[in-house]
Amino acid sequence: MLSLSDSKPAYRYYAYGRQALVEALRLANVTKGDEVLVPALICKDVLSSIFTVGARPVFYQVDKSLAPVSLPHTPLIKAVIAVNYFGFPQDLEIFFEYCNKFSVKLIEDNAHGYLSASSDRVLLGNRAPLGITSIRKTMRIPDGARLHVNDPELAEQIPPQLLFNQMPLGARYLLQTRFSKVERATGLPLLRWVRAIVRLRRFLSTGEFISTSSTLAETEVVEPVGPRDASMKKIRKLNEEVEAQRRTKLYERVGSAIDKTKITPVHDGLPDNCVPYGFPFFGDSDAAKNVQRSVNSFGVEVIRWPDLPESVLPDAPEHYSNLWFVNFL
Ligand SMILES: Cc1ncc(COP(=O)(O)O)c(C=O)c1O
Repeated sequence: MLSLSDSKPAYRYYAYGRQALVEALRLANVTKGDEVLVPALICKDVLSSIFTVGARPVFYQVDKSLAPVSLPHTPLIKAVIAVNYFGFPQDLEIFFEYCNKFSVKLIEDNAHGYLSASSDRVLLGNRAPLGITSIRKTMRIPDGARLHVNDPELAEQIPPQLLFNQMPLGARYLLQTRFSKVERATGLPLLRWVRAIVRLRRFLSTGEFISTSSTLAETEVVEPVGPRDASMKKIRKLNEEVEAQRRTKLYERVGSAIDKTKITPVHDGLPDNCVPYGFPFFGDSDAAKNVQRSVNSFGVEVIRWPDLPESVLPDAPEHYSNLWFVNFL
């Protein structure tokens, strides 16, 4: 096992997780011409961070439990990314062994797992020398993400905190927050109606109901910036215990409400201390629609994840393309 000291992790805050990841890759000394080992089950935004530091992704496959099948090696690989999909802790043992053997840095991508911890109560994102968390995925805020530096030597090289910007949260955020509160309190599906109108307008102008990110998303240059001060205030004000309880209870309620003959949950249940991003499951589009109907009264939305990288798509196993989750935001 890599041993991390008992010292506290050093944190830096950014607008988005992909920006925190750029800094993590830089701290891992990944530069032009290097390679980064990354799961093939990943969204395009992660590739943009790798692209930004001038490196190339090398993919490893994951099985239906979303654990790695095996970890390939090339001499150019300088860092490995392990993902806590949907806030469930990835078993890092195989990653630690790999990183020790080849002297490369492990980055724990905990974009989905704010507030989630391992069975031995270590906050996810703090288990490897470097970690990232996209807090904005767990809270209704326009931006907010965190870089975790857990290795004291790397912490000495950590860049200073970028300035928080003074932009307001914005009308969209305020409306969504208000609608979501009303929806949860009264059962009136305000957010669902707004989403339907937005999708209809999108369909009329682009021919697509759901916007998918383009190939360009993989080669976008990611510029790290600080989050809004207003988002940081929301993060500090969050009652973490209440939010963690809401999520764990919702996981149980969703699990009981859905018809499991048509879908397969990714997990049998919640591990101890896991605070889920949502309820992940495998199924086809019709089954996902059924799940949506079953959870409408909870004021939550079913989403397909991820929008796979172009180079992964042609050979993607079926379980990469029929993965969905009930988003608990
Ligand atoms: C696994 C994973 N890592 C990183 C990111 C990037 O986070 P952000 O959208 O905050 O840049 C995402 C975004 O979808 C993600 O799913």
